[in-house]
Amino acid sequence: MKRLDPAMLHAYLDGDPVARLAAQAKVTLPLTSQRWLDESAPKRLIYNALYADCLSPGGPASLLDVGGGLTLLTPLLASTRRYGLIDPLFHETAGSLSAIREASGGFEHFDSDWQAVDPGRWDLIVANDLFPNVDQRLGMFLDWALPRAREVRLSLTFHNTPRWYALQRPGLEERLTMLAFDGARTRAALEPFASRIEGWTPDLFNGNDGSVFPNGRQVVIVRLQGDLT
Ligand SMILES: C[S@@+](CC[C@H](N)C(=O)[O-])C[C@H]1O[C@@H](n2cnc3c(N)ncnc32)[C@H](O)[C@@H]1O
Repeated sequence: MKRLDPAMLHAYLDGDPVARLAAQAKVTLPLTSQRWLDESAPKRLIYNALYADCLSPGGPASLLDVGGGLTLLTPLLASTRRYGLIDPLFHETAGSLSAIREASGGFEHFDSDWQAVDPGRWDLIVANDLFPNVDQRLGMFLDWALPRAREVRLSLTFHNTPRWYALQRPGLEERLTMLAFDGARTRAALEPFASRIEGWTPDLFNGNDGSVFPNGRQVVIVRLQGDLT
């Protein structure tokens, strides 16, 4: 378990393997998640922390990517193992999905909320930049994912300086104000799963120094042992 800090970013940038692999990609497409990787060194560091062992042959034999988006590295993930993507792909086009699937030799795509799907069993389930900033159901997700996986890896994004958003619910007149999770709420959602978390260090959620993102967000990388052996 680790919280991103400037020293980690500095060490990552020594080789920047995610940028190198993207530069060698065989397909070129305007993909939103790829643009985020191109524009943000911290996003590349996180990507490397979660997926490095899946970017070449070896590593987990199956990978379920929840909210994974599409990048130029998706074909690398998908061509050397069984790959599944649960993502309504709010940021990508149907044409991009077809092109990336073709470049990957095909993969399972679930165009759905993760909670509505039973995707079967997987060696590894990853959720990158989904919980709890985009989807606040972090504890429910772990109840869903752990019985289906040998291992679950997450990047968790929270704000220890209060941050909130005005939201319009589809079809309703009411405007909601959503307060982003802070470290204390993120830690509280994880605590029931503490015995499964590699190197459980709850103090990591207290810090508000050294964010590597311009908006001050904090990101913790977590690995949990799933139920499957
Ligand atoms: C912030 S983006 C992160 C994308 C990618 N993982 C990355 O780091 O660039 C959140 C992703 O989660 C997907 N998403 C949002 N709600 C979801 C849900 N309930 N179930 C599955 N995916 C979801 C979005 O379509 C989007 O691709």
